[in-house]
Amino acid sequence: MKRIYLDNAATTAVAPEVVEVMLPFLQDTFGNPSSTHWHGRQARAAIERVRKQIAAYLGASPAEIIFTSGGTEADNCAIRSAVRTYGLKHVITSPIEHHAVLHTVEDLAAQGIIEMHLLQVDTQGRIDLDELKQLLEKHPNALVSLMHGNNEIGTLNPIEEIARICKHYGAYYHCDTVQTMAHYAIDLSRTPIDYLAGSGHKFHAPKAVGFMYMRKQSKVHPLITGGAQERSMRGGTENVAGIVALGKAMELAQEHMQEHARHIRQLKKHMIDLLLAKIPGVSFNGTSQDVDNSLYTVLSVSLPPSPHNDMLLFHLDLQGVSASGGSACSSGAVKGSHVLAAIKHPAARGAIRFSFSRYTTQEEVEQAVEILHKLLSSENPVELVRKNSL
Ligand SMILES: Cc1ncc(COP(=O)(O)O)c(C=O)c1O
Repeated sequence: MKRIYLDNAATTAVAPEVVEVMLPFLQDTFGNPSSTHWHGRQARAAIERVRKQIAAYLGASPAEIIFTSGGTEADNCAIRSAVRTYGLKHVITSPIEHHAVLHTVEDLAAQGIIEMHLLQVDTQGRIDLDELKQLLEKHPNALVSLMHGNNEIGTLNPIEEIARICKHYGAYYHCDTVQTMAHYAIDLSRTPIDYLAGSGHKFHAPKAVGFMYMRKQSKVHPLITGGAQERSMRGGTENVAGIVALGKAMELAQEHMQEHARHIRQLKKHMIDLLLAKIPGVSFNGTSQDVDNSLYTVLSVSLPPSPHNDMLLFHLDLQGVSASGGSACSSGAVKGSHVLAAIKHPAARGAIRFSFSRYTTQEEVEQAVEILHKLLSSENPVELVRKNSL
């Protein structure tokens, strides 16, 4: 069976060009970048090249880029460091942030270090900028943590506007850009964001390598104490091969950003059209139906109530389609999606997230919709799967 991978918001395939450039750093050029001899210097030079490259992509300076083990660490580091460094007492965020942000802020609140403020979101996952302004009026010395593109429902936040509002009130702005990094252009020379997070495995580099952008500051507290690596902000020997891979993945993304975006947007539009034509009562979560104004890699589909909805992802998997999903259900053993709950997605409806990459083909999208259509119109999907009649 040919497998169809439509879960690129979870992770992406490592690009062959990326594998190629990282291999020498696992083999011959294996030195420790902190060593001063030839082997170490080769590794150090490779890391610094990538640091410069990422800084140039963001309109930042190389000293503002700190390599991490991925998005979760970058979010943790940014939030905890900002709160500690500036003695902040208030963090403003939203209920649809990734758990890397939400659980970090909740932890700081549980320790009594900060007060957590959750902005409301509407049924499409959009925040109200007036509510943000009102909160900042009361607590200007705050950290605001609001993501760029939502990983479950694809809603985009107006980050330039949020950054300007934060600057106006003197608040710090952390933006979780894990889903948008290397998919959208971000210009920090014009957008006053204080912290960003990037994760290689969302743009065809390997897992467990990423970075944090941190606007130049006078004093900072490390999240991971140890050696003096990463300007003493993050102890531990760097993942040299991973960082080299991150650089190549970023280079490929940057060079072909428009072309990849065009390809993926076409696929998403095609899938929306096919789903609307084939599945009566289908709708789309967040703003994901608005192809030009949502995270183009994500399509969150809401299915009419059906007894099969609970097992749909399982049946799709059996038929060779990898996607992900969730429900707004918050009771019982299965923990539902906090994002779907926040946008009040009806628990009876099924929710599937399809997410695309530059490697996804039109044929794969068409096959996936056909399989979903057959599963939903079948009285007994288990029997269908048993007979392998799809
Ligand atoms: C929006 C968002 N933030 C943070 C993360 C965590 O990134 P990582 O898997 O690199 O720790 C993810 C991963 O799914 C994400 O989608």
